[in-house]
Amino acid sequence: MGTRVDSVESAANAFARLADSEESVIPTYARICRVIAGDESLHSILLNAPMGQRLPVLVLAAIHDIVLRYPESVLTPWYPTVSGVPPSESDPSGPLKSFVDTHYDEIVGLVRHRRVQTNEVNRSVAWRLLLGRITSEDTRPLHLIELGASAGLNMTPDLHACRVTSPQGSFTVGPDDARLVLHVDDPESMFTDPETWRIKAPISARVGIDENPLDLADDSDARWLKACTWPEQDDRFRALETAISVIRDSRGSDGRVDGRVPLDMRTGDMISGIGDLLDEVGADSHAVILSSWALAYVPRSERTSLLDSIRSAALRLGERGSRVSLLTLEAPTTLAWVPVPELPEGSPAEIVNASILAHTDFSSDGAGSGEPRSVAVARCHAHMWWLRPTG
Ligand SMILES: C[S@@+](CC[C@H](N)C(=O)[O-])C[C@H]1O[C@@H](n2cnc3c(N)ncnc32)[C@H](O)[C@@H]1O
Repeated sequence: MGTRVDSVESAANAFARLADSEESVIPTYARICRVIAGDESLHSILLNAPMGQRLPVLVLAAIHDIVLRYPESVLTPWYPTVSGVPPSESDPSGPLKSFVDTHYDEIVGLVRHRRVQTNEVNRSVAWRLLLGRITSEDTRPLHLIELGASAGLNMTPDLHACRVTSPQGSFTVGPDDARLVLHVDDPESMFTDPETWRIKAPISARVGIDENPLDLADDSDARWLKACTWPEQDDRFRALETAISVIRDSRGSDGRVDGRVPLDMRTGDMISGIGDLLDEVGADSHAVILSSWALAYVPRSERTSLLDSIRSAALRLGERGSRVSLLTLEAPTTLAWVPVPELPEGSPAEIVNASILAHTDFSSDGAGSGEPRSVAVARCHAHMWWLRPTG
């Protein structure tokens, strides 16, 4: 990461580095990366991408997209997401070269026009927990606004069930007939009361803003979202696939999802757009802004202006009986305004680098100042596979 890709050599090095760093997690993808790194006709494809998008995963996603499009392809045996069986152990170089030869124009077209984009649906676990907590004391309708929402898959936490596992046992919360069951481990038994996880207020809006939103109703957008996942991480892929079909299958002609308020995706910049989005919030509502691994992509100075915009909007909303909260699942370094307890010396890297799940309350009632008050609720895996205490 961070090295400029401006020549065939630097493109080859980028694939080789990815193979080295991810070998233990995605061994088959690492093999494919090595084949690409060793063949100029393959790694030079990356040079078709705009300068800021020259990440090897873009080419890998383009190839994955075409394999998803042609499930009978010569490359399918190395893609469990398409074959449904473990990846072939044989050498992928011949099939990869012949596949790229056949689909060269389609691959280059994707590399030129797409960007690597994910939407990690298990992060809905974070929103179920925090919405459950805040609706224990405030049952005003929830007007959700997600920053960097991608395809909007995390704005329907109420549609999916969630299985919470702790040393005290497991329980599942959410709709009994949910097609998607999300998972989280709670090894220190922090949230063992199912009631904490129940969203106790209606959701009145689900507005997502993204500079490059993906439309779940569009087959090529939905396929691209799947193509950006690792083919060897089958659980993530299947959860994403189910989440996409839950939204697509249950969308009525009025756009409502399972009879609930629809996703409303907007194209725009979160920093300049947040003030207007908050001004749409009705009276007596709780505007809840969500950000998971989205604020990480904007510079620190812009995050400061975002907070200023939210603070001023919160004062305007307060006058009509509404309140604003910001819920974040982001890297600790992103959330300068959230106090996070120091960890003991020698804490494991996965805890030190864990994402911080936090609630920042902008309501001016009580304190009267409109100054935000932040609470770090947990340290979490970036995809919400587990959560732990902050200190
Ligand atoms: C890593 S993805 C995370 C998506 C989603 N929040 C999730 O957790 O799955 C980051 C998203 O932020 C969007 N993004 C980055 N900067 C943005 C900005 N300034 N305004 C709006 N969207 C932005 C990207 O287009 C991308 O969809």
